[in-house]
Amino acid sequence: MIELCPVNELEEGQSLGFDLPGKPVFAIRKDGEVYVYRNECPHLGVSLEFQENEFLDLDGALIQCSTHGALFEIESGHCLAGPCQGDHLTKVDHVIEDDLIKIPA
Ligand code: FES
Repeated sequence: MIELCPVNELEEGQSLGFDLPGKPVFAIRKDGEVYVYRNECPHLGVSLEFQENEFLDLDGALIQCSTHGALFEIESGHCLAGPCQGDHLTKVDHVIEDDLIKIPA
């Protein structure tokens, strides 16, 4: 398993990026739940964030791609609007063990 971070480092309503070699991912906490996705827009495959660790739209309700503005549901990764509408982000399975967020190697 790969350790991303202590679970309490990811605060409610926040996102964090992890530049793992060959497998960039980001994590979000919403309503107490943790979600992890590959950091790749289904449109062009580019990374999504506006600035380091900023993956959400202005009100923190949706994931937004900084390149062409596609909007994704936090819970499902489903693209609601933008050039990849109907497509989805790639979800990454994770576990929380010993207060750490971990993903498969
Ligand atoms: S690269 Fe993400 S919407 Fe175009």
